[in-house]
Amino acid sequence: MALVCLTDFEAQARQRLSKSTWDFIEGGADEGITRVENITAFKKIRLRPRYLRDVSKVDTRTTIQGEEISAPICISPTAFHCLAWPDGEMSTARAAQAAGICYITSTYASCSLENIVAAAPRGHRWFQLYVQTNQQLNKQLIQRAESLGFKALVITVDVPMHGNRRQDIRNQLDLKGNLMLKDFKSPKEGNSIPYCQMSFISSSLCWNHLSWLQSKTRLPIILKGILTKEDAQLAVKHNVHGIIVSNHGGRQLDEVPASIDALTEVATAVKGKIEVYLDGGVRTGNDVLKALALGAKCIFLGRPILWGLACKGEHGVEEVLNILKNEFHTSMALTGCRSIAEINRDLIQFPRL
Ligand SMILES: Cc1cc2nc3c(=O)[nH]c(=O)nc-3n(C[C@H](O)[C@H](O)[C@H](O)COP(=O)(O)O)c2cc1C
Repeated sequence: MALVCLTDFEAQARQRLSKSTWDFIEGGADEGITRVENITAFKKIRLRPRYLRDVSKVDTRTTIQGEEISAPICISPTAFHCLAWPDGEMSTARAAQAAGICYITSTYASCSLENIVAAAPRGHRWFQLYVQTNQQLNKQLIQRAESLGFKALVITVDVPMHGNRRQDIRNQLDLKGNLMLKDFKSPKEGNSIPYCQMSFISSSLCWNHLSWLQSKTRLPIILKGILTKEDAQLAVKHNVHGIIVSNHGGRQLDEVPASIDALTEVATAVKGKIEVYLDGGVRTGNDVLKALALGAKCIFLGRPILWGLACKGEHGVEEVLNILKNEFHTSMALTGCRSIAEINRDLIQFPRL
């Protein structure tokens, strides 16, 4: 069957992956309320199209942190791509490079940072750091990413401890058996550290630790996982360069708002001082348009990239990105937007039901 939309990839990926891998990718925390709402909240928003504008030329290009991307559709950090496809993150990086968009590599990549960069040397890449308890390791990871040409450091803030994913517990999911966290040591240092020996994500990370991180890098710092105006204002005060409004795909604290529902509060609070992005539940071109109309500079995709990988590796990721870019192009044309600058709140019908 032809794969014509992102959920077609979802259905086929489900058939291809083992039950425990599928559950790991799809799973949400606790009752999965937020995981589901990330998607349904988009569907409650209605659009206000404008017609009789010349939309024979539609330009989807934009910038993030001053760098051009072909469309405001990029790739969120997700762990362990080798679970979905043997080449893992190397395939993802190649597809992102071909699409001209940004790929955020996870701390928990299953390929080494060096191999990911070698696979796509011209790729636009950011590095996501789960701040570790071991400060030396944090410093090494940051410096390694910086010297490998990663252009921003994304600090994930919503994992002071892991969310409770019931299916993974039922499946007795054990990633340490077959995966090595290749990023924890550079190739010079020899073998990767097996998962079971890895350092831990710091649960004591606080706002006042940001200055330490800032002192270790010249890269812009982006905070991923902000959901409230209070934290958004603190982010501005602490001189970070961007925020990704995210609830970790509903995998951390359950019963927080859908990302799209938290976006307005965060975007309003930062008053345009830093860039705001969004991930969580984006599955169609209209979803991308809605996120931009409500204040996001760009959206990031989590699970759909893993579906693409599971179906067809690099080409599957390329197809997922192309489908969404084409849908977004159509959404822009059908609402009368010729450029990203023309997407604004007037496209959204208020009050929302
Ligand atoms: C299988 C999986 C692994 C993930 N691993 C990470 C990670 O290593 N670091 C991180 O910051 N977020 C991680 N996330 C969260 C994603 O970056 C993103 O916030 C979320 O998937 C977006 O929602 P979506 O899947 O609906 O697009 C992961 C999500 C999934 C589904």
